[in-house]
Amino acid sequence: MAGTEASQRSQHPAIRVKGLAKSYGALRALDGIDLCVEQGEFFGLLGPNGAGKTSLISIIAGLNKPSQGSVEVMGVDVLADPEKARRQLGVVPQELVFDPFFTVRETLELTAGYYGVEPNSDWIDQLLHHLDLSQKASANMRALSGGMKRRVLVGQALVHRPSVIVLDEPTAGVDVELRQSLWRFIGQLNQQGHTIVLTTHYLEEAQAMCGRIAMLKQGRVVALDQTAKLLSRYEGGVLLVRYSDEGTERLRFKHYLDLEPMMAAIRLSGRSIESLQIEGSSLEDVFLDIMQESGSAASATQTL
Ligand SMILES: Nc1ncnc2c1ncn2[C@@H]1O[C@H](COP(=O)(O)OP(=O)(O)OP(=O)(O)O)[C@@H](O)[C@H]1O
Ligand SMILES: [Mg+2]
Repeated sequence: MAGTEASQRSQHPAIRVKGLAKSYGALRALDGIDLCVEQGEFFGLLGPNGAGKTSLISIIAGLNKPSQGSVEVMGVDVLADPEKARRQLGVVPQELVFDPFFTVRETLELTAGYYGVEPNSDWIDQLLHHLDLSQKASANMRALSGGMKRRVLVGQALVHRPSVIVLDEPTAGVDVELRQSLWRFIGQLNQQGHTIVLTTHYLEEAQAMCGRIAMLKQGRVVALDQTAKLLSRYEGGVLLVRYSDEGTERLRFKHYLDLEPMMAAIRLSGRSIESLQIEGSSLEDVFLDIMQESGSAASATQTL
């Protein structure tokens, strides 16, 4: 699928967001976002509920207007040329919205039309296969389970073979088996040169898939780095202690030297240890730390 896309590619980043702000009345959902996602990246956009991830994605997709700032997709200004920008981008939305009277195949064909391309039945067959929907191709949308509907959403985002694919919680409510095959498929698309932007609350998925990650909190980017660098920022991890008498405990530490006072505290408590294990820090630990740190900074500025 590289052919036509390769000719569209140039030195432009896949997504460039500058000084982006979005207010809903008094609420500042996005508060000055600057972000560049390079072509070919697998990029994670993480943050707690209400951080602004979907607001940012809907502006990138041209579905919502920013209050301030600019967005480009593959060098195309989304506000100035929304139709051209839209053809470069496939978005798997967080919310399930469908016309219940169309079949799965018709839904995909109609979506191709929406993007201004002829439906390609070979490609639609491949999508149905990868999304394990071949058996349901002629079923009406209303007859699908929630997880199957989400798979169709993924298919809709890919039907026009966009350069940039944005997935807003694509695996919410999706069973383990499909989750794995979905990641294999998305990984293949990334290897073929597609840029992937992923939002998820499953941080182990982000850790496994994303080369770079931005963390959002209250409409601001509070961390942006390579996944490996984010993880190595925290040398710490988790000490798993199994006591001879009263069960187990998971104790988080930030620095290995913190282990000494932790062990001393256990000794002073008089408990005896049956076994000890150390786990490295996960993206979840890093995420929680960054959210806490930036929380105190945010509340400090609020009181000024
Ligand atoms: N149409 C809207 N009108 C008013 N407020 C909105 C609207 N859409 C979003 N918001 C608010 O903007 C903030 C950011 O919401 P957004 O949906 O972007 O968060 P999110 O990071 O995607 O969260 P989640 O992880 O729950 O999906 C929230 O406080 C939300 O209530
Ligand atoms: Mg959201």
